[in-house]
Amino acid sequence: MRISVFGCGYLGAVHAACMASLGHDVVGVDVIEDHVALLGRGQAPFFEPGLPEMLQEALATGRLEFTTDASRAAGCDVHFVCVGTPQKRGENAADLTYVRTALTTLLPMLRAGDVVVGKSTVPVGTGEDLRERIVEVQPDAELIWNPEFLREGFAVQDTLHPDRFVYGVSDTGAGRRAAGVLDEVYAAALADGTPKIECDLATAQLVKVAANSFLATKISFINAMAELCEATGADVTMLADAIGHDARIGRTFLNAGVGFGGGCLPKDIRAFMARAGELGVDQALSFLREVDSINMRRRVRMVDLAREVCGGSIVGRRVAVLGAAFKPDSDDIRDPPALSVAAQMQLQGAHVTVTDPQALDNARKKWPELAYETEVLAAVAEAEAVLLLTEWPEYVALDPTVVKQAVAVPRIIDGRNCLDPRAWRAAGWTYRALGRP
Ligand code: UGA
Repeated sequence: MRISVFGCGYLGAVHAACMASLGHDVVGVDVIEDHVALLGRGQAPFFEPGLPEMLQEALATGRLEFTTDASRAAGCDVHFVCVGTPQKRGENAADLTYVRTALTTLLPMLRAGDVVVGKSTVPVGTGEDLRERIVEVQPDAELIWNPEFLREGFAVQDTLHPDRFVYGVSDTGAGRRAAGVLDEVYAAALADGTPKIECDLATAQLVKVAANSFLATKISFINAMAELCEATGADVTMLADAIGHDARIGRTFLNAGVGFGGGCLPKDIRAFMARAGELGVDQALSFLREVDSINMRRRVRMVDLAREVCGGSIVGRRVAVLGAAFKPDSDDIRDPPALSVAAQMQLQGAHVTVTDPQALDNARKKWPELAYETEVLAAVAEAEAVLLLTEWPEYVALDPTVVKQAVAVPRIIDGRNCLDPRAWRAAGWTYRALGRP
């Protein structure tokens, strides 16, 4: 099929490459010239394992192109809207400017039978508005809401082999026909038995924010338990293992630590609360305010713990932070717990050095006041405390005896509960963690 993808960020670039790898002809449209140029050369503007290889293979077939010229999307049968919906400045609500602009660009190109597929994360009700605009201009075109559930770091795999497809479809003949067109786009995964849920537009938009709210709630639940563990001397990792054995609870997303960040979970729960307020059902989501607060409290607690292990003050102390990205296998520094803790310690008088395998260039631009080192041993040199805040595999595998030789005082705070306390203590370290004795 001939496919256009509007917006070539994490979601769109991966989607475009994956659709081309499935044999479709794809044009990716974005307004950022540098990103379009990089993508056109088979380079991803962000770190995503497997994406450059997939881009290069797809570009070599001639089935994939990236452009800033939106008119190249004319003649495509299916148009995916993958632009960002960031949090509005000074508000909880989502900023829909990019979604609306993409549709305005697309409208004059739409032909009878074309299908517009919404993938951006939007407040419920947005899809209905967009559909109205589409059928006003081209009554024989249709909109489907098809949320995306990919995780950064696993984006290629999640796009090609999703857990499920969700189609939000209008209850009309055009809606059913459009669903058939989308089935053709996803034919390979559907043939593999990927479950498909076909529902109304509102449900499809809600599925996405409900899923992210549930994940955020699960993380904040275990972090709230960590607070209880800290007050009682209990161990939150053992608690998570024990409750996680109950299949109804499950062990995934129960890792206590410095909490969730990134470009999705924090802004999605806030936009969801804002939308609930507009709909007059804000009470239904008031628990998400608590989810957000628990999450933010972990960052404050981490700074307090650093102060505690440094004997009551971090003023003038050398502190090393391992990790900058909001999670491993990513160079994304949107709302990163690690960097917000690092910046806070620096503001409170510590000399902070940060290291990360992928996110240093991004971090340097946004937090120029922090010191950065590419090598772990250089970052921890003469440190009086080391904080592990993003659980990159190379940090989890560090040899405590080797690291000890570089630091001034062997104190480690495990902000992700990913190290073996016995091994670190046996090597002579003071080991501290959130929610563990
Ligand atoms: C999240 C969702 O997991 C995806 O399903 C969704 O498609 C995506 O948002 C999106 O809306 O686009 P992502 O932001 O890539 O994906 O990251 P996650 O893997 O969900 O991790 C989010 C944060 O939670 C990270 O900072 C991570 O360190 C933290 N986390 C995760 C914990 O603190 N504990 C856990 O047990 C799991």
